[in-house]
Amino acid sequence: MGQFVVAGGRPLAGTFAVSGSKNAALPILAATTLVAAPVTLKGVPLGLLDVRHMLAMLRELGVRVATAGPDSVTVDARGPLSPDLPDAYTRTMRASVFLMGPVLARLGRVTVSRPGGCNIGPRPIDLHVKGLAALSVRFADGPGGHIVGEAARLKGAVTYLDFPSVGATENVMMAAVAADGTTVIENAAREPEVVDLAQFLNARGAAVHGAGTDRIWIEGGRTLSGGTYELIPDRIEAGTVAVAAALTGGDVTMSHVIPEHLTPLWRKLSEMGAVVELGSTTVRVSAAGALRAASLRTGPHPGFPTDLQPLMLALMTQARGCSTLVETVFENRLRHALELRRMGANVLTDGRMAVIYGPTPLEGAVVEATDLRAGAALMVAGLAAQGRTTVLGAEMVARGYQDWAQRLQSLGASVTLEP
Ligand code: UD1
Repeated sequence: MGQFVVAGGRPLAGTFAVSGSKNAALPILAATTLVAAPVTLKGVPLGLLDVRHMLAMLRELGVRVATAGPDSVTVDARGPLSPDLPDAYTRTMRASVFLMGPVLARLGRVTVSRPGGCNIGPRPIDLHVKGLAALSVRFADGPGGHIVGEAARLKGAVTYLDFPSVGATENVMMAAVAADGTTVIENAAREPEVVDLAQFLNARGAAVHGAGTDRIWIEGGRTLSGGTYELIPDRIEAGTVAVAAALTGGDVTMSHVIPEHLTPLWRKLSEMGAVVELGSTTVRVSAAGALRAASLRTGPHPGFPTDLQPLMLALMTQARGCSTLVETVFENRLRHALELRRMGANVLTDGRMAVIYGPTPLEGAVVEATDLRAGAALMVAGLAAQGRTTVLGAEMVARGYQDWAQRLQSLGASVTLEP
């Protein structure tokens, strides 16, 4: 796809309409395979590569997919469906693992190659497998590095997640909807996207309780019906623009936001000296004066979102004093620090920790998007840098930000996507 070229030095200003949530769309699209009737989803970020890949996977499984508007899609999984998740996508997109639970529930069998995704640590799927095995799924190694899961009937059970994994919580929830009896997920993830999936399933007739807490229970065996559902806004996209506004000394009002989904970010931006005004569905972020250093630790929701950590690291390079940042969710998610150093940042890393001395002037450089949010952070750093920044690996960024160059341009930025 190419590279983003950013000419820095212009404060972002204006209004920005936030897209529907990628991380809600992916599991909810997967969950449509549970429903043997047409489902229309609104607020789907159809421009994202990850969403396009999920739709392509659904088509290959036998699901009929039709665009129903600029951000709407109708999905009809009446079947017949195939249990073999296509390798072309599972190898590159971790979210393909979301199809394991619903396809097993629907067909009693699934075949999947070990998934890929962002380069931010090993990202195993042991918790997915453990959670589904608790529902009586038997897993075995198949040929060619595949995993085969089988279960004549799924049976409700109590399962404890060793870590509150978002994906494992969602996978087990989707499978449990079709299981006999009640399933309890202990130490469940509490992210807003988990709640959105539960609401989608309940709107279809499922009985999922407790989503948003660390104990979710699901009464299985209900028949699901078709209908229309609108996804929540993308809190990470909103957070990215908020940080960009603060970093460039700009003034941006975002619409289509659920402010409570990002409380840790608003608190941290305020602590660092940005001005944050929360409305009911809007947030205005501006920064006129100097930013102050801060310490930050990521954590499962309602902790600070790991997906915004790279953005915050970029912001901290422009804050006065010594900032510290600890990444507790992923093992290898500080590679953007090295790229930011190429731009003049004074950052030291050790394992999961970074120490940032600021402010240091940022200068344009050629940098690489090592993962999706790292790419976003480098683009945002480029907006605040002197001169021209080239972010290689634009396709990484396009996995999670749609029409990104145009939408940043609408805020006054100079950004182009070059082949
Ligand atoms: C989801 C989000 C991603 C976000 C992450 C954490 C989607 C599509 N992606 O990813 O943007 O960064 O939540 O908020 O929703 N782990 C295991 N074994 C497993 C599963 C996970 O060890 O079976 C580990 C991971 O390696 C990682 C941690 O648990 O260190 C968190 O991962 P998880 O919450 O599962 O993230 P994802 O669902 O992959």
